[in-house]
Amino acid sequence: MSSTVLDLAYLATSVCFIGGIMLLRSPATARTGNLLSALGMAIALVATAAVHGLGNAGLLLAAVAVGAIIGVVSAQRVPMTAMPQMVALFNGMGGGAAALISVGEALHGADTTAFALALGFLTILIGFVSFAGSLVAFAKLQEILTGRPITFPMQKPLNGLVFLVLLALGVYGVGAGTISGATLYVFAAGSLLLGLLVVLPIGGADMPVVISLLNSFTGLAAAATGFLLGNNALIIAGTLVGASGFILTQLMSRAMNRPLTNVLFGAFGKAQAGAADVGERSMRVATPEDVALLAGYADSVIIVPGYGLAVAQAQHQLKTVATLLEQRGVDVRYAIHPVAGRMPGHMNVLLAEADVPYDKLYDLDQINDDFERTDVVIVVGANDVVNPAARDTPGSPIYGMPILNVDKAKNVVVLKRGKGTGFAGIENELFYKENTLMLFGDAKDSLAKLAEELKKL
Ligand code: TAP
Repeated sequence: MSSTVLDLAYLATSVCFIGGIMLLRSPATARTGNLLSALGMAIALVATAAVHGLGNAGLLLAAVAVGAIIGVVSAQRVPMTAMPQMVALFNGMGGGAAALISVGEALHGADTTAFALALGFLTILIGFVSFAGSLVAFAKLQEILTGRPITFPMQKPLNGLVFLVLLALGVYGVGAGTISGATLYVFAAGSLLLGLLVVLPIGGADMPVVISLLNSFTGLAAAATGFLLGNNALIIAGTLVGASGFILTQLMSRAMNRPLTNVLFGAFGKAQAGAADVGERSMRVATPEDVALLAGYADSVIIVPGYGLAVAQAQHQLKTVATLLEQRGVDVRYAIHPVAGRMPGHMNVLLAEADVPYDKLYDLDQINDDFERTDVVIVVGANDVVNPAARDTPGSPIYGMPILNVDKAKNVVVLKRGKGTGFAGIENELFYKENTLMLFGDAKDSLAKLAEELKKL
């Protein structure tokens, strides 16, 4: 009877998770999706506790309370620009938890069938790699460690050696019918070491891709734990996380036109080559008044947000400028590049915070052909995603990455603080083109000034 109740509860949980993921596909329904998934998790927890009991209830509830307080406070306080490292930390905890469950099972000498032992080793390996790797990702993004790739001679052979030793230990343990004592501890320590070694040589700005991959690993570790414990909800939830994390990883790699192997082993950001030859040409610098005149009397304006918008937290000022333009009869749209910013959906979330209507946001494929018919493009803190080198300069580190063709518009205005490069660390020929005006300054400040000038028209 109780197992039927539990199975039904887990079925409801799975439906909530799948429905939640479907709702997360649109910003309009994402909050509901999040709540639905949380409801699914609550059903699973309550049903498990009701059927299996709470065990050491005091300790368990205290741990839940500590976790919940840390989770809620940190999620509320984290700035949008620090969201990737927050995800890394949460994800690492998931991987670590899955691995610790397996260690716990092993210490209590549970199932010693070959299948259970193999699953145990696998969960410890994947879970601890994800845990240690996520901590390195966090430290790099938080600038506790350098964001540059950390490389040393013989790094890849060493990683390979550590992996082979772990494989040998696992095979030995399964063959010997044991996952205890020295084997367990050496295996766990080796898995943690592998997680560190694999992520250290990856550059800080590639971390979102790595975090998504590690997220997928955590899902796999959770699914393996589900098999170990005979828990269907864990198997389904873990598989969903594993699959969606992997799909996201692929999407990000594709949007940057970089194979996953290049992200993982390319040490991108270490040496920069292939910068555009911009010679001695100078940039055309504009004032907020110039830009107000240009955009205020235009028929069509496309706004291209990028990472700098997130740094400046200028989304509300941007919305004000857009509203003022619309009040003057200008057609205003937003062009969203799939990897603008530092995490998937970064720009969508920022603009949603400022209540920019979703139907004004256009994906690269939807809007790219419209730039040549557009009067003014306002680029706010975007750089690499509008760099023509990605389209025109074979040999550029970003060659092949799909870009927004803003250089084809009649006029382009770029808002940035100075001559800083983007994530790829390369020059951008767009800034030197004849139809480009540069409005230097922090984006929040520049947009506020632009709004003042628009009001004067
Ligand atoms: P970036 O190429 O990183 O350029 C951002 C620009 O914003 C910089 O040139 C900077 O110039 C400017 N900026 C910074 N702070 C600013 C402020 N307060 N006010 C105004 N401007 C400011 O940004 P992007 O075009 O969005 O491209 C994203 C890059 O990240 C791509 O190369 C992409 O491949 C990479 N990436 C993205 C993801 C995801 S999933 N989104 C994942 C991994 C890597 P100044 O310093 O001169 O101001």
